Order: sequence, then C-alpha cells, then structure tokens
Amino acid sequence: VVAATLRLIRRNFVFVFNQGRITMKEGLELSDIQGLILRGYGRKKFSYYVFIEFEHDRAGKEWLGETCDHITTCQKKPADLEASVNVALTAKGLKKIGLSESVLETFAREFQEGMDTDYRKRILGDMGDSDQSKWELGQRDEPLHALLFLYAADKKKLDELYEQHRSIMERIGGLIERHRHYSYLSKSKNEPFGFRDGIAQPLVKGYNEAPPGQEFDMIAPGEFILGYTNQYDVIPYTAKVPNAIDKQDLLPRLSSDEKDLGKNGTYLVYRKLLQDIDGFDNYFKQHATSDYDAEKLKAKFMGRWPSGAPLVMCPEKDDPEVGTDPARRNSFLYYKDDPDGFSCPQGSHIRRANPRDSLLPSPKESLLVANRHRIIRRGRPYLEAKNQNGKQVDEVGIVFIAINTNIKRQFEFIQQTWVNDQKFDGLYDTKDPVTGDVPSGDQLPGEPLTTMIIPQKPVREVLRGIPRFVQVRGGGYFFLPGIKALRFLAS
Ligand code: HEM
Repeated sequence: VVAATLRLIRRNFVFVFNQGRITMKEGLELSDIQGLILRGYGRKKFSYYVFIEFEHDRAGKEWLGETCDHITTCQKKPADLEASVNVALTAKGLKKIGLSESVLETFAREFQEGMDTDYRKRILGDMGDSDQSKWELGQRDEPLHALLFLYAADKKKLDELYEQHRSIMERIGGLIERHRHYSYLSKSKNEPFGFRDGIAQPLVKGYNEAPPGQEFDMIAPGEFILGYTNQYDVIPYTAKVPNAIDKQDLLPRLSSDEKDLGKNGTYLVYRKLLQDIDGFDNYFKQHATSDYDAEKLKAKFMGRWPSGAPLVMCPEKDDPEVGTDPARRNSFLYYKDDPDGFSCPQGSHIRRANPRDSLLPSPKESLLVANRHRIIRRGRPYLEAKNQNGKQVDEVGIVFIAINTNIKRQFEFIQQTWVNDQKFDGLYDTKDPVTGDVPSGDQLPGEPLTTMIIPQKPVREVLRGIPRFVQVRGGGYFFLPGIKALRFLAS
C-alpha cells in the first residue's frame, strides 16, 4: 500500500513554477540530464562560471570523474536550497582528454569549430569593438577546456562551494582556472538595462505544462535535449562512439556497433555581453518627446515594460500586475492583437528574437517556423571590478547562456536572421535596437548606424543613428553532457 501510494504521489506531483506547471513524467530521463537545461535555479541567485584548462588528459579525466558526484540533475527537487553544480566541455577539452578525431567529428560542426572563426564573426556580428581579437575569453588559441557552473543561495555559500571545488582542483593538480565570472539575480530579476528578464522561455513537452491559452509555446524536448524528438518530429543528430571503447558499458546503445554519447546532453552557448548602461540611459533621455517619455521609448525598443508586462497587452503604460503574473505575461501572440506593430514594434528586441505568429505567409506557418528557432535562456547579470586608467570601475552586463541541440538552427539563426537582419519583417536599415551588432567606429565605414521604426498613426516615428549598446567580450560553444556520458568521458 505504501509503495502504491508513493507511486501515485510521484505520478501526480505537480509543482507551480515560473510560467509553466512542471509535471514529473516518464519519458525524459531526468536523473541523467544536467539540471541547468530544465531549471533556471531561480532560488540560487549567486553564481560563478569557472573556465578551466586541463594541462594533461589525466587531470581532465580525474576532475570530471570527481565532479560527476556533485552534479545537479533535473531530478532533484527545484525547491531545495542546496547549491547546484553543472559541467560543460569545449571541443578542445574533449580532444585534450583523448577523444579521437573520428568521435569528435560526430559532434555538431559549430561546436567543433568554436565561436571564434572568421565565418562566425560575420554571422554573429562580432565586429568593431566586439571583434574576436579584442575578446577577454574564448579566442581561437586559448586553451579553454571546461566550464564549471556553481550556484548558491547566498554569496557566502557560493564562496564556500567555490573553495570546495578549488580544493578538488588543487588536489588533482594539472588544472588551471583561466577565468571566473561572477553573476547574480537581483530580487527583481532585472537585467542591467532595468527590465525583468527570464520570462519568455519555451515550455518543454514532457516536463512543463502550458497555462491555459499558452499551448502554442509547448516545444518538443529534442530542441533542447539530445535523444528526444524535436520540432521536425525526428531525433536530432547525436555524437557517437564505437561500442568497443565504452568498456564499462556506460552509454546507451544506438546501433549494433555504436553507442550514444549525446543522449541527455545538449549544446550550450556562452556570451559575455557588456552593457553600456550610461549610453543607454542618456540616449533615451535625449530622445524623449511629448509622445514618448524615456520609459515608454525604452519599452518600445524592448517590447516589454520594466516589470515584464508585454506591450501587446499593455500598450500605454506598465502594469506590474501583468508583469509579475506567470499565467498572463507570456500568453500572447502578435497576429490577432498587434498585426501592424502599433503596440509592440516589429523591430523591438522581443519581437525579433521570437516573432511568434507575426511573419508571412500566415500566422500558422509563422508559429511553426518560429518554434523551430527557440532557445532556453539561462543568462544572468554579471559584475566585474575593472581598473580603468588607475580607477576601479564596475563593469556590468549579462552572461548570456542559451541551450539548444542545434546551435546553427537555433541560436545562430536567431542572432543572424532575426536580431541582426536589417530587413527583418519588411523593415529596412534596422537591427535589434537593444542588442543588434550596430556598426561602430572603424567597422564598415560609411554604413549608417541602425534605425528604429515605431509604427503609429498617422505617421510612424523613425529614430536614426542609434548607437551600439551591447558589446561582446568573449564566449564559446560548449557540450553539456548527460551524466552517463560524463562518466564515460572520465573513464
Ligand atoms: C545584453 C543583451 C540582452 C539583453 C539586455 C536582453 C534582454 C531581454 C529582455 C529584457 C527580454 C524580455 C524578458 C524575457 O522574456 O525574458 C528578452 C527576451 C528575449 N531575448 Fe534577450 N537580451 C539580450 C540579448 C539577447 C540575445 C543575444 C539573444 C539571442 C540571440 C536574445 C534572445 C531573447 C529571446 C529569445 C527572448 C524571448 C522572446 C520571446 O519569446 O518573446 N537576447 N531579452
């Protein structure tokens, strides 16, 4: 009776969290999936991202083996307040621990090549002051091998957690900490420009349940976790190893002679994005008019008000009740309520980053296409003390983290084809006015700075010469393996 009752409780366990209800369902192997994929660790507001170099393969493997025992999986209760730990590797890291070229070739090409390539520089708009040659981390020849994610409920616990992991590294030896980024979630969960962040996340089938009216946001798990069906109804390409090298029989079988190294893993995009807070605020102060005060103008650029309330639902002023209501703040489409962008301009950040049902040829097809280009965002603001001409200044921005199983079709597509496209949705000479790769300084001389078009009656408002508010300071593409895969890599 006890066992049956427990089974019943488990099956019906429903937890109201963020915008969706989380239901523990069979299907997704939650105990093999790293927690960061499906959880934002909202209660663990303090985090370090530690970038590690392996001096030799033994150090890397031993460290992975020990760290495996600390990893937070998706099975652990979201309400707990203990620390969370996750681990990701670069292609260089996999090579360093001895993975052969033929196995590495089975990983996605973008991951193999890394973020710092001439081709990617153009795709991602990493030019001018964001040029890869000026990056602090992730340059082509930097030996970045692994990324350790540490999350805790307060700064003291975070520092203790860091010390614990640093002493593991010191004991093993042959491991170098190359960078450590500190990031935090403020009480309001606002990003440094002052807007609530982390609202619109895809709901993952088999894990989340949609609030009424938000079924359009349900996305197949294979878009975010390898080994499951994706939005094309197929299982995404995975990384493979020959049977013979999995001597401890740790990995699931793919075929008679291959094992699945990707299963329950995913690809992770990391970008350190510096935000020019003064430049942003001054711009809006200078361009405020009687029609648009600075706050309304900012909202038109973002597509949401600072509280998170979407302009589609609250076109005239902020409504914190909507912005803080998980059941309402993301339950909107564009075609019916705002086809011409009179509330939320086509060029605004959120409408570019996810145009939902607003693109041609029809709302149905637009939604189908848009939902094949979704990412789970796990970014947080960062804070760093910098020495500028002998003076200590705080540098702020966001550590942008995107989770997807197909970097090219998901993150890179959004960045290139929507965010940075000058002709997005019938516009011209425009880029994302908040995060776009607006030309600056020595970059592409003669090219105009970006324009923002705000549709309104009787004539639209056009703002020209918008400067670049966000610069890239570095980044990389990572593989976040399943737990069995991590044990295999450590073996
Ligand atoms: C410093 C840079 C950035 C800032 C300050 C920023 C800020 C925001 C804010 C305030 C929101 C609305 C709140 C929410 O839905 O969570 C948002 C949404 C979003 N952002 Fe960004 N963002 C930045 C960079 C990026 C980049 C580089 C991408 C992708 C290439 C991106 C993709 C998205 C997506 C997909 C959404 C959700 C849109 C939706 O589904 O409605 N963001 N961002």
